[in-house]
Order: sequence, then structure tokens, then C-alpha cells
Amino acid sequence: MNIQWYPGHMTKAKRGMKEDMKLIDLVIELVDARVPVSSRNPDIDQLGAGKARMVLLNKSDLADERLNGRWASWFEAQKIHTVKIDARNRGTLKQIQSVVQEACKEKLERDRRRGILNRPVRAMVVGIPNVGKSTFINSFAGKACARTGDKPGVTKGNQWIRLNKTLELLDTPGILWPKFEDQQVGVKLAMIGSINDQILNKDELACELIRFLNSYYPQALSERFSLEDGKGQPEHILEEIARARACLMKGGELDVSRAAALLLDDFRAGKLGRITLEEPKEQ
Ligand code: G4P
Repeated sequence: MNIQWYPGHMTKAKRGMKEDMKLIDLVIELVDARVPVSSRNPDIDQLGAGKARMVLLNKSDLADERLNGRWASWFEAQKIHTVKIDARNRGTLKQIQSVVQEACKEKLERDRRRGILNRPVRAMVVGIPNVGKSTFINSFAGKACARTGDKPGVTKGNQWIRLNKTLELLDTPGILWPKFEDQQVGVKLAMIGSINDQILNKDELACELIRFLNSYYPQALSERFSLEDGKGQPEHILEEIARARACLMKGGELDVSRAAALLLDDFRAGKLGRITLEEPKEQ
């Protein structure tokens, strides 16, 4: 499958992010726990050079719990503090505050040595589209906190959300662009719904997903769709799904495209179970 991406407007986003980086101490990078590496843009290492870093494995509720643990260890091994979260659930966000302090320890220590006390850590949320940045900022900030910098007469730019005495968050996230020199990365991002479906061949994508599931989560399809067979070529399985879900065209022929769309929607909504599409490589 050939997926094209035109990052024209991303040049502007990159410039904006470079400016914002000057204002902050900590980069909070959101990745999708189902594809923790494919949903990253490695340029963040360069953009965020010299900043404290942490990674949030978001949508961990949709990802394989066993692999969530392995991915967290993988990031930790690279000295990046990592927390797995469900950005919609404020309960899972409690852990973050203490990890922020841990991630910024060196900076706080440096401040203290220079006699700067009680200066809050300033942080920015970054990530590719659809990883849950806005959801996270809304849940993390909650309703109670004040937004600062909203003064009349001042050009409306970034605003800081004061979370508490020790932490302020930039209210607009930095948008990273997906990077897929590798087609497999593009396919995985398409599977989780991060790439506009209109530019994709959904039938092919569904077949790729079936191939993956049969190798790594062999029960997922037969359990969800009560398939009789559930084996063989992906095209055959797609037909079986169409049959099981009565996806029929006017003349009574199987509508495999509708089955493909249905399968992708089910996967994205977690209805096939908690599934992770990539495993960490040994390091
Ligand atoms: P973005 O700012 O990074 O572009 O992402 P955004 O917050 O808009 O989130 C994209 C979609 O992902 C939203 O769903 C949001 O609800 C969902 N989402 C965010 N975090 C999580 C999570 O931890 N777990 C799960 N399961 N979903 C999450 P949507 O369908 O586009 O919108 P909505 O109808 O849910 O509001």
C-alpha cells in the first residue's frame, strides 16, 4: 500500500514549536500506546535538545497490557520517564505530577544552586495529530486552574495554565508530524486512524490488519465476529466478516468494503480487544 503525506503546513508548525521550546523546561511527549514508535517523530530529540523529557503512553486502555509494560521499560532504558495513561480518565493522570518532578530534578537542582527558588517548571505537550493532546491538556488541567497571560492589549499568543505552584503548562500543544519514510509506519498509523481514511484503500488496510491479527492475536477475529473458519487468506476472512455481519449489496452480493470499514472501526474502538501493533526491539 502506498501512502503519501504532504507535510507543507508542517513547516510552519515546526517553526512555531522551535519558538515555544525556548519558553519551556520540560517536553511532555504523547505517543499512542498501540504504536509507541510509529506514532513518534524522532525530530523531537533535536527540537527538545537540552530539555527535560517525559513520554506518556496514551490510549493505554486500548493497548495490550503486557506490551504497555515492555514499552514503558523500553523508554525508561533510554532515560525517558514514562507513564501509561488514558487521557480521558483523570484517575490515571495522578501519577504524572511526581514523575514531572523526577524528570526535572536536574533543572530544579540547578535553579536552587543559582538561588532561584520556587520557580515553576514550564512544560509543553507535543505529539502527532490524534494522539490525545487536547484531551490530555483538558483532563490534566481540569476546570479549577487559572489561565494566565490573557491580558487585554497583549497580542493573544500562548497562555500558561497554572496547574499548581510547581508546574505550568502551555495551553496549546506542539503538533509533530508523522514521519513515515518506512511504509509500515504509515500502514500502522492508518490502522489506528491517524491518517485521513479518504486517501487510503480501506479494503487493503483491513486485509493488512487481518494478516497481523492472525499472526499475533489469533482469537481476536473469530471471537468478535463468531467466524466459522477464520483462517486462510485475508480476502477470504473479510468475506466471512461480511457474511457474519450481513454486509450485502443490493443484489445480495457481499459488500466487503463495508466489512472492511466495520472491521477498522471495531479495531480503533478497542472492540477486538486490547491490541498493540508493534513490539519493542531488544536494545
Ligand atoms: P489531538 O489533540 O492529539 O489531536 O487528539 P485529541 O485529544 O483530539 O484525541 C483524539 C481522539 O482520541 C479523541 O476521540 C479522544 O477522545 C481520543 N482519546 C484521547 N485519549 C484517549 C485515551 O487515552 N484512550 C482512548 N480510548 N481514547 C482517547 P474522538 O473520537 O476523535 O473524539 P471524541 O468523540 O472521543 O471526543
